[in-house]
Amino acid sequence: MTRVLVSAEVEPFLARRMVPDGVGVDLLGPAEPIPAGGPHLGILPLLTRRIGGPEMDRLPALRVVANMAVGYDNVDLDAARERGIRVTNTPDVLTGATAELTWALILAVARRVGEGERLVRPGVWTGWSPTQLLGSSLSGKTLGLLGAGRIGREVGRRAGAFGMSVAYWGRTARPEWEAECGARRVADPTELARLSDVLSIHLASTADTRGLVDGPLLDAMKPGAILVNTARGDIVDEPALVERLVAGRLRAGLDVYAREPAVPEALLGLENVMLLPHLGSGTLETRQAMFDLAWDNMLRVAAGDDPLTPVV
Ligand code: GLV
Repeated sequence: MTRVLVSAEVEPFLARRMVPDGVGVDLLGPAEPIPAGGPHLGILPLLTRRIGGPEMDRLPALRVVANMAVGYDNVDLDAARERGIRVTNTPDVLTGATAELTWALILAVARRVGEGERLVRPGVWTGWSPTQLLGSSLSGKTLGLLGAGRIGREVGRRAGAFGMSVAYWGRTARPEWEAECGARRVADPTELARLSDVLSIHLASTADTRGLVDGPLLDAMKPGAILVNTARGDIVDEPALVERLVAGRLRAGLDVYAREPAVPEALLGLENVMLLPHLGSGTLETRQAMFDLAWDNMLRVAAGDDPLTPVV
């Protein structure tokens, strides 16, 4: 019997899949440690669980970490390589959902949707007024994409629908996509920050990108510009961003934070920031597709086959 460990939180998605004969599933609760000496060949963790060398060593038979996320900054890839353990992620299946949520944040911040709702719900709205909660139009403005990987490009594809032009910074030039949505590549992140009315982050969290959006880069943004982050919180110097939001210099839409689930206290009372709880890929269809891909990756490696979407 091949035994695998699956995060208990994804049981509803597992229930829609057939468990093949000869495979036994053990569920792992969110606060439960990985069982030391467990017989498991595979583990399907969420992005909230750190899988480093010590965690891998608890499972002597481990052959695959099938992360149910496109990001894999929670997994120590070097430790996996040293131990001959495969690591997989879930690209593509969440691209559209994450791009949609990015646009939800862009629109919500530009048009002060959160503030509007906070006016209506307590019953204090006194009626239409020509100067009430005026936002800023997106049409004619520039969307800057920090990173033009799958998600960044998908966000860019939707910009034309809102009349925005697209600029981007990324290590790889994307000529076909540039032609598709009229995007232009700029030389460095600071130049992108300078010209963007909305700056949206679509980078992976790596040693090179952590803290990339720092105080000087934020200061290069136009006053009142909107920073959107649906990628990873640690790409931004969070205290530096908080300082500028408190000062009212910028606006922001945040789905991710440096130390989730902690959200900086100073942000909670601010009206110029919309705060979401890491919902990027959060549609029913997408989460099932993410589970399916992680599950198939895990079963394939456990059966001695190559995974569909390997990282290591
Ligand atoms: C979500 O943040 C993911 O990496 O899939």
